[in-house]
Amino acid sequence: MTARIIVVGNEKGGSGKTTIATNLAVLSALNGIDTLLVDADPGQKSSALWASHRLEGHPDYPRISCVERSDGRTIGPVIEDLATRYQTLIVDTGAVDSPALRACAMVADTLVVPVQPDALDVWALPTIANIYDRAQQLNPKLQARIVVNRILHQSAERAPAELREWMLQETPTLATHPFTTLVARAAYGRATGEGVGVCELKGRELDAKAANEMRAVYEAISQ
Ligand SMILES: Nc1ncnc2c1ncn2[C@@H]1O[C@H](COP(=O)(O)OP(=O)(O)OP(=O)(O)O)[C@@H](O)[C@H]1O
Ligand SMILES: [Mg+2]
Repeated sequence: MTARIIVVGNEKGGSGKTTIATNLAVLSALNGIDTLLVDADPGQKSSALWASHRLEGHPDYPRISCVERSDGRTIGPVIEDLATRYQTLIVDTGAVDSPALRACAMVADTLVVPVQPDALDVWALPTIANIYDRAQQLNPKLQARIVVNRILHQSAERAPAELREWMLQETPTLATHPFTTLVARAAYGRATGEGVGVCELKGRELDAKAANEMRAVYEAISQ
């Protein structure tokens, strides 16, 4: 039995990779799944920092182990080895078209692509689509999930449809996979800063809409 391997990747910086990877790890752990978060972003170590905040600030919350691995030459076999010891691996990658991201896509089950619906993010999509296409040729089980992130509340209906329309023309192999959306909400940054997921915020900090959106992303990835 090997783990499901979920890689969160997009070479566009700030698209929401770490936010989504950490929240997926929380939801997976809350579902009783033995989950490992892999920080493959050597520059920032954001997921690793999040995990250590979690351990220090919330030792009573479900434990999420995090390891750092980023060497593009070795990360593929290392991930496959780790996959024999956990039920789910969630890999947060860096904001570069790195050998590590390509290697992770080669062994993954699902590539989660966060994208903000503004021009500069959208124009960068062909790069990740190319990584997906190449990986998929050698790893046919690889699926993709698009997360339209940080959309403005007023364009929550329109933006994903417009993005899909554009992608059908420019990145058709990614466009046919399921889309989910996350509205721009302060709760995401707050949760990350506390080492928790949006679903774990409590009292006045809890934002039920954010929690529900993230659960929908998790459900889409679980299918
Ligand atoms: N849906 C959202 N609403 C509001 N803020 C968000 C949302 N998603 C992400 N952010 C914020 O956007 C910023 C970038 O997010 P994040 O660090 O997850 O992106 P990233 O893709 O991991 O960045 P990098 O490429 O630098 O690794 C963070 O400050 C995060 O809190
Ligand atoms: Mg990051």
